[in-house]
Amino acid sequence: MENFIPEMLITEEEISDRIETLGQIITKEFEGQELVVICILKGAFVFCSDLIRKLNLPVRVEYMMLNRYSREKLSFGEPKIELDLTGPVEGKNVLIFEDIIDSGNTVYFLTELLKHRRARSVKLAAMLYKPNKSKFNIKIDYLGFEIEDQFVIGYGLDYQGRYRELPYIGILNAGH
Ligand code: IMP
Ligand code: MG
Repeated sequence: MENFIPEMLITEEEISDRIETLGQIITKEFEGQELVVICILKGAFVFCSDLIRKLNLPVRVEYMMLNRYSREKLSFGEPKIELDLTGPVEGKNVLIFEDIIDSGNTVYFLTELLKHRRARSVKLAAMLYKPNKSKFNIKIDYLGFEIEDQFVIGYGLDYQGRYRELPYIGILNAGH
């Protein structure tokens, strides 16, 4: 198995500082309310587990797994739901946790779906955002970091199923 050495982009310390801040902001904004957190599998599990532990709120955690519809390589369209919620979101404040917003396709359709299921509010927390690639007009309510258009790994993000366990965010080097 090939083992690339990634180039450091965002350190563990920078990540944890940002998570701490996001936790405080979200806690303040949802004060006195209950929150349904939707962790988008697979990539968001690390971000989600760190951030929910910084929330001082009553939280119910749900998981969803969505696959990009891929009849063509660069296809856009409704993603396939591989794993759905275990309970209704009607009347609930929902906060989606996503690892990275690239085209915005996944999150766009998920937001529409949750509104259709009559969530009271739907907000989005994303660890990373690539502005150049964005094709859908997505409002990220709580963002970790904006990055350049490059392929990143670690902190939940994978390359061919690998590197999710890295405690930092790295760039998969083009030199390899
Ligand atoms: P979107 O629907 O195009 O926004 O797709 C976002 C998904 O693409 C993320 O949840 C990731 O699984 C994947 N992705 C996009 N960019 C990267 C990257 O740089 N590294 C790893 N995965 C990525
Ligand atoms: Mg992925």
